Amino acid sequence: MYICLCNAVTDRDIRRAVECGITSMRGLRDELGCAGDCAKCARHARDVRDEALAESSQESVLSPAMAGMTACPA
Ligand code: FES
Repeated sequence: MYICLCNAVTDRDIRRAVECGITSMRGLRDELGCAGDCAKCARHARDVRDEALAESSQESVLSPAMAGMTACPA
């Protein structure tokens, strides 16, 4: 689902960025452009980021061996 229409950023883009260690809204803006223009998406982007952070912390607890096994672009 598109979260940021100005920059065509989806919830999957945000979740992938969080998996790669981009956890701040500033980082998401710098990396994806999310909330960098009209900023109408900022609240929803923050909610998606928070969900992704909560999910990643649960996954780390449930499966420590899988932590850090996501492919992130260099
Ligand atoms: S909708 Fe995200 S900056 Fe405009």
